[in-house]
Amino acid sequence: MYVFVLGSAAGGGFPQWNCHCQNCSNVRTGHPGYRPRTQSSIAISEDGMHWLLVNASPDIRQQLATLPHGPTQSVRQSPVQAVLLSDAQMDHVTGLVMLREGYPMDLFCTPSVQQELSQHFPLLPVLSHWNDGLLHQPLPEHHNGSFQVSFLPELAFSVIPLRSNAPPYSPRRDAPQAGDNIGLMVRDRKTGTSLFYAPGLGELTPELLAVMAQADCLLVDGTFWSEDEMRLVGLSHKQARDLGHLPLEGKDGMIELLAGFPAARKIFIHINNTNPILNEYSVEYQQVRQAGIEVAWDGMEIRL
Ligand code: MLT
Ligand code: MN
Ligand code: ZN
Repeated sequence: MYVFVLGSAAGGGFPQWNCHCQNCSNVRTGHPGYRPRTQSSIAISEDGMHWLLVNASPDIRQQLATLPHGPTQSVRQSPVQAVLLSDAQMDHVTGLVMLREGYPMDLFCTPSVQQELSQHFPLLPVLSHWNDGLLHQPLPEHHNGSFQVSFLPELAFSVIPLRSNAPPYSPRRDAPQAGDNIGLMVRDRKTGTSLFYAPGLGELTPELLAVMAQADCLLVDGTFWSEDEMRLVGLSHKQARDLGHLPLEGKDGMIELLAGFPAARKIFIHINNTNPILNEYSVEYQQVRQAGIEVAWDGMEIRL
């Protein structure tokens, strides 16, 4: 299986257009140790040419220009064959608007996400006016619910329900339910290797830990370094966990958690522009690397 990181930043990207925090200022002026990052999205493929887009970020147009694709056979051809959404957050769904010229297209998401995108942020009914728009392929909402993607016959997918948060526009904000956030387990039947992908992890359950223990590659939530990072930068009083993300540092943080798993590759993704690991010369970045964890970057390719 091929995994291509299209966007490794959290919502807002890096730099964020209106942000003048130290990180954003430094990356904007080309300071050594910082690289720009677009918003959260990956793509998965068997052949490195036909891709399942996992989350559609507002930066999709720029991102797709970097995605490997095979020889073109017709005037209009997309390397993206279908889209899967892990939630209905803005940074993961607004790119669906930019893909409209390629519709109809299959959209894998839970009934909860489909409902949000039909009622509270009605992208799906709006986009149905472009060649029937997105064709909903419902994902199971229960633990380990398996499904197939027809053009990826060698890959076995399963849904891992996660506790993170519902989008700010949702009536379920701060009271998320099953189906609002999912992680993905993808196992390659040919190679026997597996990927676990979860850009938003707010809480650990025994079921989730059991799945993470089986993965060869953990591509997981690296949003915030500390619980009160947004407050320290003077941006918000919300804690990382309130926003649906476990911090990286400290007791019960992601770094400590990942140390307990046998995965050959452990990678942080969905990194917020306030996070000190975006500076490759920081002690925080060094701490992550010394723990055997990689920090995803746009264009990173993972072969499993
Ligand atoms: C999140 O991951 O918490 C959200 O996507 C934040 C946002 O609204 O950009
Ligand atoms: Mn996000
Ligand atoms: Zn910033």
